[in-house]
Order: sequence, then structure tokens, then C-alpha cells
Amino acid sequence: MPRRSVITGTGSALPPGPVTNADLEQRLDTTDAWIIERTGIRERRIAEPHVKTSDLAVEAARNAMAAAGVGPADIDLVIVATATPDDTFPATATRVQARLGIGQGAAFDVAAVCSGFVYAITVADALLRTGAHSRALVIGAELFSRILDWDDRTTAVLFGDGAGAVVLEAQDGDRGLLAARLHADGRHGDLLYVDGGPGSTGTVGKLRMKGREVFRHAVGNLASVTEEVLSDAGLTAQDLDWIVPHQANARILEATAKKLGLPMARVVMTVGSHANTSAASVPLALDTAVRDGRIRPGQLCLLEAMGGGFTWGAVLIRM
Ligand code: UT7
Repeated sequence: MPRRSVITGTGSALPPGPVTNADLEQRLDTTDAWIIERTGIRERRIAEPHVKTSDLAVEAARNAMAAAGVGPADIDLVIVATATPDDTFPATATRVQARLGIGQGAAFDVAAVCSGFVYAITVADALLRTGAHSRALVIGAELFSRILDWDDRTTAVLFGDGAGAVVLEAQDGDRGLLAARLHADGRHGDLLYVDGGPGSTGTVGKLRMKGREVFRHAVGNLASVTEEVLSDAGLTAQDLDWIVPHQANARILEATAKKLGLPMARVVMTVGSHANTSAASVPLALDTAVRDGRIRPGQLCLLEAMGGGFTWGAVLIRM
């Protein structure tokens, strides 16, 4: 029997009260119609100023642990994917570990921006399969509202805050992570970046993006990395029950599904209500579809994402 990493629980957390496109019309030269037509986004959640990324991460993790029926003594690995950590250091994962009452194992952050969760679950899978760790919390948590330029209509309307988490456990059997592929191409770093940091400006910086170029790369990269993981597992797109994509833009999701020859009925789409929550978007979408009963045990799911760096990747998982 192969040893695989199985998702035994999912959870998520969102700040209360949506900020609608109409709300943004009040402060930016934009319209509800433009945002919906170009992105599919209708609303997003924005956290209150006192809220930290670790607050959302802890809430999502608690929900995932409750779903998995595990407690703090059962977790020996905490990975937080985030581009908006509480502080420059220590890692947000160590804050989360402490607040959950986990005193053993390892905890660290993964910085791969919107691909962060796909990177983090791939790293967790590798650590679980070596036997070094037995049960992981893999979390994507972001407060992108803190790094937006709220005067820039080309980016401010696109993002939101949130967190999602899974409990990942090494088990023998057919369920679990079947294949994973990660990629990066740092030559495109200036198409999507933050213009500050501790080692450059000494400030946090604001998000900058050449959206049209990112869009073009996203569709090609996501379709090709999906073909790679399917081929690694000896499967085809027709075998997929669900695609759980990074939620950047409804048009990217539609174009990728079309390239793979899959109907939108098999794509989990939450971008309309969450907007782009970067590393949180895939686990948030996953938890939404698990809790509303769409994704069921035994089904084949593809998680995929692309983000700043560029980084991108895909994970094939039997739930
Ligand atoms: O999560 C990481 C990955 N990120 C992504 O995948 C984002 C990828 N990119 C996108 O989703 C899209 O490129 C955007 C949604 C960012 C932009 O959509 P687009 O269809 O590529 O629009 P555009 O950038 O080509 O802009 C079209 C027009 C421009 O006006 P002109 O130059 O044609 O007069 C923009 O200035 O729309 C204008 N525009 C807006 N108008 C109203 C840009 N933002 C806005 C806005 N409201 N918020």
C-alpha cells in the first residue's frame, strides 16, 4: 500500500461583512459593471485594522482540526503560506503554533504568493512521506488589503482578506496526494510584485501588477502544469471530478477549463464573493465546496495556482 498524504479536514475564516463593488465606486474611478465583466468579482472581505494574518490563520486551522477530529497534541508540522505575515519574523506559523497550543514538531512560512498553498501542501506532503512528520496543518492566510495601493483602481478592486486550512495526514491507501508539480520563473518578477521590503526600502510596500501580461502567462502555465500532474498520475482531465483553482479572475478560470476541455460545472468558483485572497484562495475554495457537499470523499480534485515570482503549480488529490 502506498503511503500518501490525505486531507482529513478543511477549514476557513473570513472577516465579517462584505465590501461590495458599489462600496469601491465611492472611493475609486471604477464601476460595478467593469469589475464584474473583467473579473467576476462582486464583493470581498476586508479585515478590521486590529486583525492580524495569524488571527485568520488560527480560526481556519481550528475549523480544519475540528473537521478532522484532532487536537493540538496530534499536529507535528505547521506551515503557513502567506505574503502578508504578521511581522518580518518570527514566522507567522510559529505564532499560529503557539496559539493553537502545539508544542512539538516544526513550524515555518512559505512565501510563494498566490501559489503559496500549492507550494506548502507539496512541501508538507514530502515531509509526511519521509516519515519525519505524521500530521500537518497547512494554512493559506492573507491580509492583502494591507499591501494594496487604495488609489490604484487597477489592483485595489481585485483582492481580499481570508484564510483556509487543511489537516494533512500520512496514511496507507489509495486516498491522498497523487502527484504535485511546482514551477517558478523569476525573470517575470517585475510583472507582479510589492515595491518594498525589509531588505530594500525598509517599508512594507504596495502591490504592483501588469495585469494583462500576468493574465496571458496564467492561462498557459496553469493548463500546462495541470497536464503535467495528470500525466504523472496516468490520468486525464476527464477523470477529474473538481478543479479547485486559485481565484484570481473568473475569465482565467473559464479559459483554463476550456483549454482542458472541462465544463465550468466542474470548477469550484468563489472569486465572486472572496475576490483574490492570494495564498488563502485555494484552501478557502476547497473548504467552501467540501462544506456545501460538492466535494465528497473519494473524488479526484485538482488544486492549481499561479502568482508573483512567477510561481505556479498543481496538486492532484484523491479526497
Ligand atoms: O493572483 C495572481 C495572479 N493575478 C492575476 O491572475 C491577475 C491577472 N490579470 C487580470 O485578471 C486582468 O488583467 C485584470 C482584471 C487585472 C485587468 O483586466 P483586463 O481585461 O486585462 O484590463 P486591462 O488591464 O487591459 O485594462 C482595460 C481598461 C484600461 O483602460 P484603457 O487603457 O483601455 O483606457 C484600464 O485603465 O480598463 C481600465 N481599468 C479599469 N476601469 C474601471 C483598469 N482597472 C479598472 C477599474 N475600473 N478598476
